Amino acid sequence: MAQLTRVSGSVGLITLQSPPVNALSAAVRQGIVDTVQRALSDPEVKSVVVCGQNGIFCGGADIKEFGTNMSGPPLVPLIHAIEVAHKPVVAAIEGIALGGGLELALGCHYRIAHSKAKLGLPEVTLGLLPAAGGSQRLPRLIGVPAALDLITTGRHITAAEALKLGVVDQVTAHSTVDVAVKFALSVAGKPLDGRRISSLPCPRPPNMDALFEGVMKKVRQSARGAIAPIACVQAIRAAATLPYDQGMERELELMASLFTSDQARALQYIFFAQRAVARWSMPSGARWDTSKPRPVHKAAVIGLGTMGRGIAVALAQTGLSVVAVETQEKQLMAAKQEMSGMLERGAKRRGVAPAFDKIRYSPDIKAVADVDLVIEAVFEDMALKEKVFQQLSALCKPGTLLCTNTSGLDVDHLASQTRSPELVVGMHFFAPAHVMKLLEVVYGSKSSPQALATAMQLGKKMGKVSVAVGNCRGFVGNRMLKPYSEQAFFLLEEGATPELVDGALEDFGFPMGLFRMSDLSGLDVGWRVRKVDGLGKSSGASGQQARIRQGRRYSPLGDVLCEQGRFGQKTGRGWYQYDKPGGRVGRPDPWLHSFLEEYRAQHGLVARRIDHQEVLERCLYTLINEGFRILEDGIAAGPEEIDIIYVFGYGWPRHRGGPMFYASMVGLEKVLARLEFYQEAHPDVPYLQPCNLLKRLVASGSPPVHKWREVVKKLHSQL
Ligand code: NAI
Repeated sequence: MAQLTRVSGSVGLITLQSPPVNALSAAVRQGIVDTVQRALSDPEVKSVVVCGQNGIFCGGADIKEFGTNMSGPPLVPLIHAIEVAHKPVVAAIEGIALGGGLELALGCHYRIAHSKAKLGLPEVTLGLLPAAGGSQRLPRLIGVPAALDLITTGRHITAAEALKLGVVDQVTAHSTVDVAVKFALSVAGKPLDGRRISSLPCPRPPNMDALFEGVMKKVRQSARGAIAPIACVQAIRAAATLPYDQGMERELELMASLFTSDQARALQYIFFAQRAVARWSMPSGARWDTSKPRPVHKAAVIGLGTMGRGIAVALAQTGLSVVAVETQEKQLMAAKQEMSGMLERGAKRRGVAPAFDKIRYSPDIKAVADVDLVIEAVFEDMALKEKVFQQLSALCKPGTLLCTNTSGLDVDHLASQTRSPELVVGMHFFAPAHVMKLLEVVYGSKSSPQALATAMQLGKKMGKVSVAVGNCRGFVGNRMLKPYSEQAFFLLEEGATPELVDGALEDFGFPMGLFRMSDLSGLDVGWRVRKVDGLGKSSGASGQQARIRQGRRYSPLGDVLCEQGRFGQKTGRGWYQYDKPGGRVGRPDPWLHSFLEEYRAQHGLVARRIDHQEVLERCLYTLINEGFRILEDGIAAGPEEIDIIYVFGYGWPRHRGGPMFYASMVGLEKVLARLEFYQEAHPDVPYLQPCNLLKRLVASGSPPVHKWREVVKKLHSQL
């Protein structure tokens, strides 16, 4: 797991060997302890180089070991033994040095990195802190402000930035190991006093108290309830104010409180869930590892509105040639201008040339003739989309994949408009499409495994977290949103205010409550959909009858607001009031409060006191209940798919692990009991009816979330 060889006469070369990323498993740690000891006691060895096999230094701790009885030598004394060595130790960093990998390198006396290497301390993203001395050594090496930035965000840095910050001593474009060996020869026998980071004083920034106070305030705000970023600040403060040994004690103490926390479990679950969803499968048994994607070099986007613009830019930035089709001349001009700006800003951020020449604009759909894949993003109107799919089917070369960005219309129906329904899938991006990480890839009943594999691979190339899901109204994300927003409307009817509902959801960790979000995206969007569904008219009637539609409770509140022209931020009024149309900062609106009172009076509703707990239970448990229905229906293969969609596309706080994981933490019995309680109080709300899978899981003793996939599989095989 670690090998010692002697090179260039007197250099002991220690190579970590544990594919794929040389993670610091018990065996690797033991290997390092043994090889370091041998190298240090071998009189022929004058200096040491540590590297990783296959061009990868070290990806950090072996996360699979967390939650088990960890055996093997601990990392802290191992790194300490390297640091106090009397022979110079040089880290040769190729590929990655992340987490414990970078901490290991910080224990070495010199660090040389390859120009393409990436470094970082991403522990915070797993609900932890760098607890092998990283929180104490890094501020000593690069100063408090830079260490705060790297450790509280967990961001990866390039070798060039690492050199600028002083994390590494040298960057090379050649063989890092060769350069490190040469360097090790040159420093053999030289004193190491100034090279042991733990013995350096931590540079004290001016106004240190104010600096930490300011950072803590900022971190608390952006953490939205996550505890690890706060512990990271506290650990760095210890580095800045305490001697090294005491700082290490504080680091350990803080880590102990994080290590077994629910948040760390949630974040580590999301880490693995992200990998699990890449290993997709279809009900037919087709899988990610047996389905070969088609090559895609040239793509087309139809409709350059909000979504089409972002999708086309994202495709071009991935290196594809793009045909961008928009029939409205004015829209085409506006799109061209906005997309050029997007390309320019993206290129500047990534330090590359803007991909202007990758996009060809056209007012004519005939321009799609030679593309490999099309993404349709015209208005959410089935008749229009039908027509577009018929045209695409007639115009495209055989084998072209036809994708729709619909938010929830029937993919099977669109496929039926084409000659090759097996080549139709949904590629559901989220706004803004060139920024948002999530992509729902929707397979229909006729979609071929190859079509799904191609869309999934393209999503990956675009840097998206792609999740394969089945076809149903709203797919996974938007389908679950419906009961959630319905409950929020009912809560307003029963006595809540938008501020109260949003406050509860934001305290839970959503970046924006439901009503603030609705003001941002526009109340008219949902209104249009409700009207198409035969809902969406306020009817003007009063009493309970006005609030029953299609045999179930319905709240016309949003429709009444739309009829008054209150579309949210764009009109300066919605659930909140804004300074002007297009204003961004919403304030509580006294008009809305009296409107709600009048509305309740008109409909015979008596306001009661509603607390945060009721808001969370009703909004979140109905959403979770729908998640169970989705599993039951086979629309998502497992809870991981649902959780990844919610964390990456819907602002679900990552440290709570997604809705299904959250349900497992709350306890399925409790979720079921509360749904039953609310259902009794509101028998006319079908979404409160607990679904069978939830009941079945509770009856079988509430197995842990990683076992649900099996339960669902069994359920389907019995059907
Ligand atoms: P939009 O209204 O901003 O843009 C639609 C564009 O399509 C317009 O520029 C229109 O002129 C153009 N268009 C209409 N018919 C056309 C045709 N036959 N050929 C070429 N262009 C045509 O709409 P938006 O918001 O971009 O939505 C597009 C699709 O994406 C819809 O299906 C929507 O449900 C979906 N979607 C929207 C999201 C959003 O946040 N806006 C999020 C995810 C999906």
